[in-house]
Amino acid sequence: MNYRHAFHAGNHADVLKHLTLSRILALLGKKEAPFAYLDSHAGVGLYDLQGDQASRTGEYLEGIARLWHRDDLPPALADYLRVVDELNPDGELRYYPGSPELARCLSRPQDRLHVNEKHPEDGRLLKDNMALDRRVAVHLGEGWHLARALLPTAEKRVLMLIDPPFEQADDLERCVQSLNEAIGRMRQAIVVIWYPIKDQRQLKRFYQLLAASNAPKLLRAELYVHPVDNPLGLNGSGLAIANPPWGLEAELLEWLPWLAKQLAQSQGSWQLDWVIEEKKPA
Ligand SMILES: C[S@@+](CC[C@H](N)C(=O)[O-])C[C@H]1O[C@@H](n2cnc3c(N)ncnc32)[C@H](O)[C@@H]1O
Repeated sequence: MNYRHAFHAGNHADVLKHLTLSRILALLGKKEAPFAYLDSHAGVGLYDLQGDQASRTGEYLEGIARLWHRDDLPPALADYLRVVDELNPDGELRYYPGSPELARCLSRPQDRLHVNEKHPEDGRLLKDNMALDRRVAVHLGEGWHLARALLPTAEKRVLMLIDPPFEQADDLERCVQSLNEAIGRMRQAIVVIWYPIKDQRQLKRFYQLLAASNAPKLLRAELYVHPVDNPLGLNGSGLAIANPPWGLEAELLEWLPWLAKQLAQSQGSWQLDWVIEEKKPA
């Protein structure tokens, strides 16, 4: 386990993932009934962008820093940027929320959070960062077992994020296995898989597995900062969203093209489509 998210915190991929999470949380929050948030690969929860790891790569400069303190942002970004603002009350961009902190800030007293991190040091930091909030249970186990261990929850509504480091060759397959396990246990669960856009051959196989998954419906949102076939590094990232809440697709259509322009490096673009369309009764 060499991956440390601190090197990448606040980059273009985090912006896509965290902004989309913030919108799903807002849509879930429209109904009073509680929901459970599950994060299988949670990271430390809070990142210091001026710390050794984040400042060594400076990836956030081409991510959150491009949006920070602008006054021409689409309204959909308000919740996400409010969380970042609240972490930086003196107006300098220093702290950045990981997915557990974002979900913690954008959930309500009746909601419950289960966040899991396997790396012992990151797990300890995550525990410290979540310690003051009694709604959050921190688990230090195997992320691939989380759906099996916790679903179904007492809460009828669930949002699960699957965001592994993709250090292992079979991580894309394991994401789909986890998705199938989650949906098998709670058919209505919203499951979000984050994935890197690098190797087109691997992605093709991943899309096939997604299409054959047991998700009742599955939306795919992708944001590219380089041309898709650029042979170097991370060209963009995507989110496979099972059971997206009503309204999310329309929202994404509004702000994803805008975001692709703001975060473009050599060339920005985006894609939004259904991998599995909702099956309508005959
Ligand atoms: C991409 S980062 C998570 C970022 C976080 N979800 C966010 O958005 O702020 C992936 C995390 O998974 C952890 N990890 C790696 N293998 C794991 C496993 N098998 N189970 C649980 N966590 C794991 C890594 O230590 C790392 O912190």
